[in-house]
Amino acid sequence: LEQRAFPVGAIRLFASPASVGRELGFRGVACPVEAAEPGLFEGLDFVFFSAGATRSRELVPSALAAGALVVDNSSAFRMDPGVPLVVPEANGGFLRPDHRLVANPNCCVAILAAALAPLAQAGTVRRLVLATYQSASGGGAALMDDLLGQTRAAVEGRPVEPRVSPHPYAFNVFSHNTAVGPDGSNEEERKVAEELRKVMGMPDLGVSVTCVRVPVLRAHSIAANVEFEGPAPSVEEARAALAQAPGIRLVDDAASNHYPMPSEASGADEVLVGRVRHDPSHPSAVSLFVCGDQLRKGAALNAVQIAERCLALRAVPA
Ligand SMILES: NC(=O)c1ccc[n+]([C@@H]2O[C@H](COP(=O)([O-])OP(=O)(O)OC[C@H]3O[C@@H](n4cnc5c(N)ncnc54)[C@H](OP(=O)(O)O)[C@@H]3O)[C@@H](O)[C@H]2O)c1
Repeated sequence: LEQRAFPVGAIRLFASPASVGRELGFRGVACPVEAAEPGLFEGLDFVFFSAGATRSRELVPSALAAGALVVDNSSAFRMDPGVPLVVPEANGGFLRPDHRLVANPNCCVAILAAALAPLAQAGTVRRLVLATYQSASGGGAALMDDLLGQTRAAVEGRPVEPRVSPHPYAFNVFSHNTAVGPDGSNEEERKVAEELRKVMGMPDLGVSVTCVRVPVLRAHSIAANVEFEGPAPSVEEARAALAQAPGIRLVDDAASNHYPMPSEASGADEVLVGRVRHDPSHPSAVSLFVCGDQLRKGAALNAVQIAERCLALRAVPA
C-alpha cells in the first residue's frame, strides 16, 4: 500500500493475539498491531485478509457487515460462484462496482494467469501441462525460517531437523506439502487447476500440473507447456504479445543463456517470462518458463491491484 501510494487516510493492523504490543511502520509512523476479532472493522473502507481460510470465514462477514470492501487472500471464498477471483491482467474487467468481496488467487495462479493472459489473446488455449518449483515463502514465514535453519545446519555439518517442512528441505526437493486426494493430486495441484479455469474464464481448460517445493526462499518458478486449439502463435508472436503485456518482463536471451530466475524475480513486481519456444512434440503448443515473487504478484501486489481497480470503480472516498 505504501509503495504503490494507495490513498490511505488511516490504517489499522490486525494479527493474532500473540502480536498485540508489536508495532509496524507505515509511511514512517509506528502503528500498533491489534488482535483481529469480529466487530472491529467499523469505519474501514477496505479490509485485506491474509490469515488463512478459517480466520477469513470467521472475520470476513463482520467486515462486510461494517460496509468495507474486502479483498481476501485465503482460499475460503475463491471457488464461491458469487465471488470474483481476480488477477487484474487476466480478468480485471470482470470487477463491478457492486462487488464487495473479491478473492485473491493461489500464488501460482496469479503468476501464471498474468503470463497466460497475453497468450490467450494471441490464440485459443486448450490445455496446459505445468510443473511448479515452489519456494519456502509460499508456506509462510515459518517455512522460510525453517529453510534458513536447515540450510545453516547442513552447511555447518549439524543434523538437519525439519521443524515445519515434512521432509528435509535444505538441498532437497519434495512433492508439495498438501494433502493428496483419491485421484492422486495434492490440494495445491487441485487449486491451481480449478482457480486457473475460473480466472481465465475457461471452464473446459485441460490442466495437468505437478507441484513441488524447491529450496528457494521467496519466488516461484513454473515450467508451462501451452497447447492451443488450432494453430499456436509463432514464437515471435508469443514473444511480442508477452513483451507488450502489463506486469510481464520478457527475459529470453539465448545468446547469454539468461532466462527467468527466482533470484531476479524476488522483490520484483513483474512476472518474468522466457524460454519461449515451439514444442517439437506438438504442432500447436508453445513452452515457456515463468518466475514470479509470490509475496508480491502471488499475494500482496495482486491484492492491492484489486483494491486499486475497486477504488476506481466505486470512487471510495480517498
Ligand atoms: N505465502 C504466500 O505466498 C501466499 C500466497 C497467496 C495466498 N496466501 C494465503 O495467505 C494467507 C497467509 O499466509 P502467509 O503465508 O502470509 O502465512 P504467515 O506468514 O504464517 O502469516 C500468517 C498471518 O496471519 C496472522 N494470524 C494467524 N493466526 C491469526 C489469528 N488467529 N487471528 C488473526 N491473525 C492471525 C499471523 O499473525 P501473527 O504473526 O500474530 O501470528 C500472520 O500475520 C493464507 O491463507 C495463505 O493461503 C499466501
